Amino acid sequence: MRLFVGAAVLSFVLVSVPSQFPEAPTGFDNKSNGIVDDATHQADQAKFDEVEGLDDGLGPLYNAQSCRECHQNPTSGGPSQITELRVGHLGRDRHFHNPEITIAHGAETITGRSLVNLRAICPSGAYPNREIQERVPDTESIRATRLSLNLLGDGFVEAVADQTLIDLSHEQCKASHGKICGQVLYVPIVEAPGQTGVGRFGWKDQQASLLSFSGDAYLNEMGITNRLFPDEVTKLCNTASEPNNQPGPDGLADVDHFARFMRATKAPARDTQLAGTPVAKRGSDLFDKIGCATCHVRTLNTAAAGTKINGGTFTIPDALARKTFSPFGDFLLHDVGTGDGIVMAMEEHYGRNMYQIQWKNLSLDSFAKTQNKVRTAPLWGVRLRPQLMHDGQSVTLRDAILRHLGEAEEVTERFRKLKRNDQEALMEFLRSL
Ligand code: HEC
Ligand code: HEC
Repeated sequence: MRLFVGAAVLSFVLVSVPSQFPEAPTGFDNKSNGIVDDATHQADQAKFDEVEGLDDGLGPLYNAQSCRECHQNPTSGGPSQITELRVGHLGRDRHFHNPEITIAHGAETITGRSLVNLRAICPSGAYPNREIQERVPDTESIRATRLSLNLLGDGFVEAVADQTLIDLSHEQCKASHGKICGQVLYVPIVEAPGQTGVGRFGWKDQQASLLSFSGDAYLNEMGITNRLFPDEVTKLCNTASEPNNQPGPDGLADVDHFARFMRATKAPARDTQLAGTPVAKRGSDLFDKIGCATCHVRTLNTAAAGTKINGGTFTIPDALARKTFSPFGDFLLHDVGTGDGIVMAMEEHYGRNMYQIQWKNLSLDSFAKTQNKVRTAPLWGVRLRPQLMHDGQSVTLRDAILRHLGEAEEVTERFRKLKRNDQEALMEFLRSL
């Protein structure tokens, strides 16, 4: 407990005073940030890149055959143009409800998830007479697409103390006189039943742990069950056992390799040449001055080595500890007028038996409040993303900025009032990130 209080005091100072610690390593070179050696990192990456087939337990419902398929630009672990489909509807109670999607000519109804898998292995050579493709029923009038996210540098994000994000939320709310107050959301740590952490991953902050996210993605994107998510989405068209969920000789299963791969990635690197130009420097000052940095927070610090996170299941190693990194994001949820109306589905993200577990601090009301909120998009690596915002619908920086309303309305207004060449300078700065 003493440790926790100490961290709180420390992080308050550190959020406001950037760069006291060494900078986290950056680069797109597929090298480890130091938590494992390069050979181990490349072996973990091979697991992340591996294309799974029927024999590996792919599907039966899925979106893609490998993590890399959606996380690759400019290298494994980056984002991509692949979007996913989520749907649902507003009930008479005015609350968001997950869809009920009937497959196989009415043989089964899939519930408990908002994700619609866009591929299926039936029909196929093995199952010529089966048909299980999910399709959106007319009743599901809330329909949203969400773009694949960057994972590079996420080990540093995971290593930020919960208290740092909580303090950040208080600070920004106070500094903006209540106009900008990022929401902190406690989410289950799937590998530590009963424990929660401050969500920071996914467009809706639906996960706090990279291991939880790995299990979630392996099941929901690729249809591969694992020890964290042992239940298939559908029992129809199931192939043999799923060999990938068994630990290898090193005791690690695929989900452990994915998590370690992500934890060992370097953060996205800046375009230092562009960043050094007088125009980009002026743009950088304007970014702070008009208030973009209130949400797109420049730097964060990770907790001390030995700190236990993820419900005590992960200990922050030296390579991730006490580092300053520059995500240009606060990892908090905001209503900037772009919300997709979807509340993240509980069973989809935390397992079919999640309601049988008593989770500390979990509040379904807090989840309901996220309906029209989105996590501040971390701007690191934004120059490499030609499609912007959660739906990918903004293809220019100007459009993305002008779409910010709600909590960001005043800041956007200040951007509008800038002289044209100041606006250009600000965007030039963004192109250096
Ligand atoms: C079909 C495309 C697709 C595949 C395959 C896929 N992902 Fe993702 N990934 C996404 C999308 C889309 C998001 C954003 C999801 C959201 O929040 O709604 C995402 C988000 C993430 C995030 C959150 C990153 C952050 O910083 O917020 C992690 C971690 C992640 N994926 C890991 C994985 C792993 C590990 C695999 C392989 C087991 C995988 N993904 C496979 C599309 C994919
Ligand atoms: C109130 C918090 C807040 C403020 C202030 C804010 N943003 Fe954002 N920003 C967000 C959120 C939330 C998103 C994600 C919205 C979405 O995807 O629907 C975002 C997304 C973006 C994106 C898209 C990035 C990507 O990878 O898709 C850019 C670019 C951006 N903001 C730039 C700016 C600039 C420049 C300013 C200042 C003029 C600014 N933002 C002010 C919260 C904020």
